[in-house]
Amino acid sequence: MSSERRDVLHSWCVQADWNAPTIVGGSGARFFDDTGRAYLDMSSLAECMNLGHQHPALVRAIQAQAERLCFVTASWGAEPRAALARRLLELSGFEGGRVYFSLGGADANEHAVKFARQASGRLRGLVVARDRSYHGASYATMALSGDARTQRQADPAAFGVVRVPPPYAYRCPWGTTRESDCGERAAQAVAEAIDAEPAGSVAAVLMEANAGTNGIVAPANFWPRLREQTRARDVYLIADEVMSGFGRCGEWFAWQRHGEAGRPDLMTLAKGLTGAHLPLGAVVVSAEVASRLEHEMLYTGLTYCGHPLACATGVAALQAYEDEDLIRRSRSLGASLLQSLQALALRHAAIGDVRGGDGLFAVIEIVRDRATKAPHGTWPETPAPLRRLVVRAMEEGVSFATRGNLIIIAPPLVIAERDLADAVALLDRLLGEIDWS
Ligand SMILES: Cc1ncc(COP(=O)(O)O)c(C=O)c1O
Repeated sequence: MSSERRDVLHSWCVQADWNAPTIVGGSGARFFDDTGRAYLDMSSLAECMNLGHQHPALVRAIQAQAERLCFVTASWGAEPRAALARRLLELSGFEGGRVYFSLGGADANEHAVKFARQASGRLRGLVVARDRSYHGASYATMALSGDARTQRQADPAAFGVVRVPPPYAYRCPWGTTRESDCGERAAQAVAEAIDAEPAGSVAAVLMEANAGTNGIVAPANFWPRLREQTRARDVYLIADEVMSGFGRCGEWFAWQRHGEAGRPDLMTLAKGLTGAHLPLGAVVVSAEVASRLEHEMLYTGLTYCGHPLACATGVAALQAYEDEDLIRRSRSLGASLLQSLQALALRHAAIGDVRGGDGLFAVIEIVRDRATKAPHGTWPETPAPLRRLVVRAMEEGVSFATRGNLIIIAPPLVIAERDLADAVALLDRLLGEIDWS
């Protein structure tokens, strides 16, 4: 038994089942284990290594910053922190706004809720979030998430959270079959949830703008309609861009696909912000929110918020996205990826739905019966044949991620076109070879 298997308490797994290779290096879309095996990374690990593994410019930036200054707290200035905030405000068009730096996605979401509550003057205001969402694994973000895995651990009501059904067009909670109808109904459900509460009691709506861990990709009309509904009710809209940001959905931030009609009041970032080379999250707040907070005491902060090493990595990451034109690349590769997955769906009855493709993020939903859409088991169980597919792919040097009955395809944005095509071809072959009965 390896010492890691014996000594480390690993997240999101049964300890007794953990038995993974030790990874010692990586390059581009591949990482390598200690026996010299290479794996093509079709999920950017946790959908976070958008820039690939061991990006040389990021490694250099970390080294250079470490030589100069590793750490000061947020009560002192730090050059890379200011530079990263400036660049994020420019890229998002949140001029006059401000950026708060956190350690990752969950605490970015918690802080976004804190700021929205404080700015709205509703310190314990309600937050509307949705089923089949994921916002993190801290207590408050478990309460915010509509995630079957953690549902029993946190009480949404205790955290002031109200949940609504998701914009899940393939299995639309309102029984509609047209995508746009489902998007409209889902935005309407948020409006109704706000209206059902006493006037002025809802502080914010927190939702993923596009890609999310639970595999929902909202119909295109959902987000702008949600924006209209929340604006009409004077309720802040928080976009959780932790996964969907930094090119994953073909834009710097997924809401930008809708232009100004999609602009949230606050957005949360992590993952691609540093391409996961160091832990960092952020909350970007609009000028309006910033002005409301300007003379207020913020009773919050974690020791490592705005860590200079992490911020320097973020600055280098943004430069790399630009230098390598990765946002546009993700958009164009995402469109062709979607087409090739749709072609797979024509050949394999195991595929019930294919969605995404705004960038290099796509979801394949596996079903037992395509006509009835019956799944193999209950969400979020991963069906045994799908587990076998992942093992077979791993044996052939390709790492696919699954969530329940979904295959989540989200490779680094630097993946070579040949590698992407080969991975889809492997999927095609394995989908045919696996016994799905
Ligand atoms: C949409 C979204 N929000 C929040 C989080 C939580 O981020 P972290 O794991 O950095 O706390 C995740 C992580 O997968 C995510 O996908």
